[in-house]
Amino acid sequence: MNPRRIQILPSLLAADTGHLADACRRAETAGADELHLDLMDGHFVPNISFGPDIVKMARRACGLPLNVHLMFTHPDRYADRVIAAGAATVLFHVEVERPIAALLDAIRAAGVRPGLTLNPATPAEAVFPYLDRCGQILCMTVDPGYGGQPMITGALRKIAAIRRQADAIGCGDLSIMVDGGVTIATAPRCAASGADALVAGSSLYGAADMAAAIRDMRAAAAAAYDRDGAVSSGQ
Ligand code: DX5
Ligand code: ZN
Repeated sequence: MNPRRIQILPSLLAADTGHLADACRRAETAGADELHLDLMDGHFVPNISFGPDIVKMARRACGLPLNVHLMFTHPDRYADRVIAAGAATVLFHVEVERPIAALLDAIRAAGVRPGLTLNPATPAEAVFPYLDRCGQILCMTVDPGYGGQPMITGALRKIAAIRRQADAIGCGDLSIMVDGGVTIATAPRCAASGADALVAGSSLYGAADMAAAIRDMRAAAAAAYDRDGAVSSGQ
């Protein structure tokens, strides 16, 4: 059993939009490791949510590292603004038709952790050419755009393949995160599949006691964690 601490990231998308600064502080007080922010452009996904100014607001409101998920067709047009706003990690989708390697390198050159996200239908191999440039891979377990959807558990199978490839090229430190439908019930399965970081929106912001919810989720995931995803292989 690997005693690795599992990172838990509340997703601000599930917070009351009338009280976003309070929601940032609530996550910090509750013991979150980082805060996840979902920025959407209404084009890559059908919904529109936050922009760079909300990242700036979160930077002022709390001390948590800001983990920014760009659901943008043109992430290269906005990465600078998100970095200037205070992001600690910038993740964009591998499905975009852009020079992906150059953007990952530009994010890293700005002193920010770069990462790629892949949708449930996208094969693991899509991120393989870029793994050495990434600090984190975000494996979506719902089609992005909306919170509160049930997890597509079949997408978890890709994690073990990504981990194997990362190890093969000497990127053993790569973080692999899951986003979409993470609850106290599904968190162990994510960790058993090899995920070391979990994004959770509805299940944490909807909890009566977020601190207890984070503690319980982290403990349940840590107990199930299998770095190689061997527990879940074949599922
Ligand atoms: C979906 C977002 C998620 C969302 C997850 O497009 O990327 O971060 O907030 O919400 P839940 O945890 O409710 O599935
Ligand atoms: Zn997200």
